[in-house]
Parts: sequence; C-alpha cells; structure tokens
Amino acid sequence: MTSVAIANIGELVTWADDRPVRHDAGLVISDGAVAWIGDTADLPAADEVIDAGGRAVIPGFVDSHTHLVFAGDRAEEFTARMAGQHYSAGGIRTTVAATRAAGEDELTRLATARMAEFRAQGTTTVEIKSGYGLDTDTEEMLLRVASRLTPESTYLGAHVVPEGWTAEAYVELVTGEMLDRCAPHARWIDAFCEVGAFDADAARTVLTAGIAAGLQPRIHANQLGHGPGVQLACELGAAAADHCTYLSDADVAALADSGVIAGLLPGVEFSTRHPYPDARRLLSAGVRIAIATDCNPGTSYTSSMPFCIALAVREMGMTPTEALHAATAGGAASLRRTDVGHLALGARADLVILEAPSHVHLAYRPGVPLVHRILTAPQSHKL
Ligand code: NIG
Ligand code: FE
Repeated sequence: MTSVAIANIGELVTWADDRPVRHDAGLVISDGAVAWIGDTADLPAADEVIDAGGRAVIPGFVDSHTHLVFAGDRAEEFTARMAGQHYSAGGIRTTVAATRAAGEDELTRLATARMAEFRAQGTTTVEIKSGYGLDTDTEEMLLRVASRLTPESTYLGAHVVPEGWTAEAYVELVTGEMLDRCAPHARWIDAFCEVGAFDADAARTVLTAGIAAGLQPRIHANQLGHGPGVQLACELGAAAADHCTYLSDADVAALADSGVIAGLLPGVEFSTRHPYPDARRLLSAGVRIAIATDCNPGTSYTSSMPFCIALAVREMGMTPTEALHAATAGGAASLRRTDVGHLALGARADLVILEAPSHVHLAYRPGVPLVHRILTAPQSHKL
C-alpha cells in the first residue's frame, strides 16, 4: 500500500456534502483513492509528500461528450461560418470520408494524441463516440480505437444517414448487423435527433434496440432548433440529453422531473454562432447540468474544459463554482459514475493542482494554461 500526501492546499474542491470547498487543507491518497481530507496542519505521515504551495486542487474534469476518433479537419467550414454561413449537419459527411480513408493505426495515433491534449488540460475521464464511420466495419473500428482509450465508449451509428441510403434502410443497418458488431465495444448508445439527421421515431428505434442489446442511452437533442430529442431522452430514461440549446418550458420541466442530465456544450455555440443555452433557467428549475467539450472537427474543435467553463460563466449565467461542478461532478453524473468528478473520501484520486489559488481563475483567466500538476489513479484505460 503506497500513500501520497498533498500539503498546503490553498483551496481544495471535494464536493463533499459537509464541506464542498475547504481552505488550508491537506489530502492523502492511498492506493489510488482519497483516504484522508483535513486541515494541512493535521496531515498524517505518508510515503511521499507533495507541497501544493497554496495552490488550488480540484477533481479532474469529466468530459462526458466527445467525438475524438476522426481524421481530417474542417477549418474552411469554420472560416465560412465566421463569415456568416450557417452550420448544417451535412458537414459530418466530409469527416466520414476522411475517417474512412484513414486506417486503424492512423486513427489510433490521432485519437491518442488528442487524449494527451485533453489530459494536459486537466481532463481525467473522457467519453468517446463513434459516428464518423457510418458503415459496419468503420463504426466497429472506431469503437475498437475508442474502447482502448476509455471505458466510456459510445456507439453513434445514428449520426447522419450516409450518402446512398434511405433513412429506413440505414436505421435497419444501425439496429441490426452494425449494432451486433459494435455493442461489444461500447457502454452507451447515442443518436443525433435533429432535422437533417434522425427524427424522433428513428431515434427511438435506434436507442431502444441499443437498450435491448445491453447499452445505455444518451442523446444529441435540441441542438439546432426546437425538437423532440429532450422529451425522447426523458421518455427512455436516458442518462443525458446533450446540447439542450433550444428548450421549451415543457422540455425544462421534463428534464427536472426525470433527472436526465442536461449536457451543455458551449464550444458548439462558440463555433456555430447559435445562441448559448441558458444554464440559469435550467438550474432554477432544478435540472442537473454537465458541461462537456463535444470535441469534434465540425462544431467544436476544442479539447479544453477550462475554455468551456469560461464560456459557461461568461455566456450561460453560471457562477464559476457551478461551472466547475458541472464540468466535474456533472460530467460524472452524466456518465453514471460515482467514483470520479469529486474528491470526497473513497473517490478515485484523479485530481488537478492548479497554477492558481482558486478554481475561479479557470474562468477569470480564460485561455491561460493553469494546470500545475495532474495526479490520476492507476487505471486499465490509459489517458
Ligand atoms: O455534436 N451534433 C452532431 N454531431 C456533432 C457535430 C459533428 C460534426 O459536425 O462533425 C455535434 O455537434
Ligand atoms: Fe456531439
């Protein structure tokens, strides 16, 4: 049994019920889990001592929504949008072509490099979706790559209908042979429920088939306009309805009643010029929120949770503390994980020592690299 003590923590964010944020604190890690929390003056002896020097310590970020296995980029599309062009889901097909052309080795290299980028910015748990294959072999390959990098891999065969297919025939493939081949490599199933992608009936068919195959549902909902995605998430007891950019009062009420986590992805609004979702409206209604990057080459090519936190504070009405909670504990709730996203006793010791005295600096100093040091518990899936 090896133990590590962290002394002189200026601000320790644990999210523990009794004292979520403490000052002048110490923390002991034993065998990869948080074993002691208290005043730094009372810190017990340990095999190794790290002096935090008054810096803040926070749980590692939990990014509950990414599409990071892809090839190519869409910088021209971004440039055109910044000049006023609208985003359409059709751009997904550009990335599908580039991804199909890359082999498994190249996609593994790209995804591994992106994981290192996430990690360097303090993210210690990452969900990864397929969805840029859209044929059985490539979707299965993307999930093989994803599942070597994270336990939180998501089958998103229902991203868009590929060229040359009718929606009906493609849904049959996604719920048949493709599901059989992909389910062993995934924990979750997702569908893009949106005009231009899949309507409510098709998304319901896909998600229901996934549930029958042992996967847990989550959904892309209400991203580009008002629609049925959020209600479908609540109907199916999905873990999360992600995007939630366009919500009716009935959608907000359904999220609050069902406990489905609203995933807010402000990198998308930044990059598509859609309006930011109103987090304050959701919080006031009692909806639980996760903040995630949605890292993908079309709508949000960022791996930075601090950037998303800063946007949430500046543009979505969240306090810095609420935004950090959504980017850690909220992400964990979205992934139905109780071991990450917090640093209460027994939690996995996935933590970030910030180059700052307080978590507020994550939003207050946008764009500044604030990671001093990252500690993670040993894991079978390496970040
Ligand atoms: O989450 N909404 C669907 N999928 C991605 C966009 C993918 C793309 O444009 O390549 C998203 O925004
Ligand atoms: Fe997405």
